[in-house]
Amino acid sequence: MLTFARLRALRALCVGGLIATAGVSLAYAQSPEQILSGYAAQSGAAPDPARGQQFFTNRHGREWACATCHGATPTGTGKHAATGKAIEPLAPAFNPARFTQSAKVEKWFRRNCMDVVGRECSAPEKADVLSWLITLKR
Ligand code: HEC
Repeated sequence: MLTFARLRALRALCVGGLIATAGVSLAYAQSPEQILSGYAAQSGAAPDPARGQQFFTNRHGREWACATCHGATPTGTGKHAATGKAIEPLAPAFNPARFTQSAKVEKWFRRNCMDVVGRECSAPEKADVLSWLITLKR
């Protein structure tokens, strides 16, 4: 028998489901430009593609640069410095899956910046790098 309490529980489930679905689409369906404007807002300064290219290509006192795995111009397939595994292009014009899921972007920025810089990258650094990657066109 469906009691009033059960109906209310059901309704709560449905509303919860709707909110969860909306949350998922927010987290997973973004464009590189939207992700960039998030970092730019956090950093409070205009992103600088030239500085992003330097950051990406230079080493930061450690063994690897971003370019070591992704290539100096990450429009083609990269190669993992440790495992030798192929890495799909990072520039979004050459790989439409890139920079469309903020959770994935954040996870890899965190991991790769720890390897390359020895700390997490700051919002201005992420904005600079992404603004440069967006300038790489076919
Ligand atoms: C040791 C190799 C290696 C280095 C060095 C490296 N990366 Fe990566 N990067 C990877 C791998 C592996 C992935 C995840 C696999 C994939 O998505 O192709 C990845 C994924 C990413 C992603 C995820 C993008 C998306 O939306 O899919 C970003 C952003 C990224 N790297 C940025 C950087 C930056 C910035 C640096 C330098 C600070 C850097 N990487 C250095 C190996 C590396």
